[in-house]
Amino acid sequence: MIEAIQGDITKLDIDAVVNAANKTLLGGGGVDGAIHRAAGPELLAACREFGGCETGAARITPGFRLKARWIIHTPGPVWRDGEHGEPELLQSCYRSSFKLAREAGAKSIAFPNISTGVYGYPKADAARVAVGVMREENGNFERIVACCFDAENLGLYRDLLEGGE
Ligand code: APR
Repeated sequence: MIEAIQGDITKLDIDAVVNAANKTLLGGGGVDGAIHRAAGPELLAACREFGGCETGAARITPGFRLKARWIIHTPGPVWRDGEHGEPELLQSCYRSSFKLAREAGAKSIAFPNISTGVYGYPKADAARVAVGVMREENGNFERIVACCFDAENLGLYRDLLEGGE
């Protein structure tokens, strides 16, 4: 089942939480900062082990102090003009994250609106990419959550999801 909610992803009682990271995986602002603050310092120590991550790929760590068992870190594309592979890279963020979640045995997963904050990806375009991949994966999870932080994103996801799951 795919659902869109509005709220703080760090509070969700769900198997896997996805983090909109940067390529260093060493934390930052936005949802990345919120997740690191909530998960605690062990998360940063675990992330250092990876030595970074390329855009569109993903890495998995324990959830540490989060309710979530796992955190999946994926650097989204920085929006330029849509002509530099941004859609394909964003799609890859979702697919890579789902793959790691499946391999870990997660049955539920929540995503923030990757790249639509600091990285400037237009919200409506990003929502279409996200929901497209969520629909591909819907049979593999009991629960897929688009955890929106703002009402605009919530409205975009709900409109897209109304069009049948
Ligand atoms: N829970 C859910 N969503 C959140 C939260 C939160 N606690 N905090 C912020 N968001 C939302 C933002 O409102 C936005 O809709 O997450 C979405 C992604 O925005 P950013 O966090 O700015 O991420 P992104 O646009 O992918 O930019 C990544 O920002 O924080 C840095 O280290 C990060 O360099 C990387 C860049």
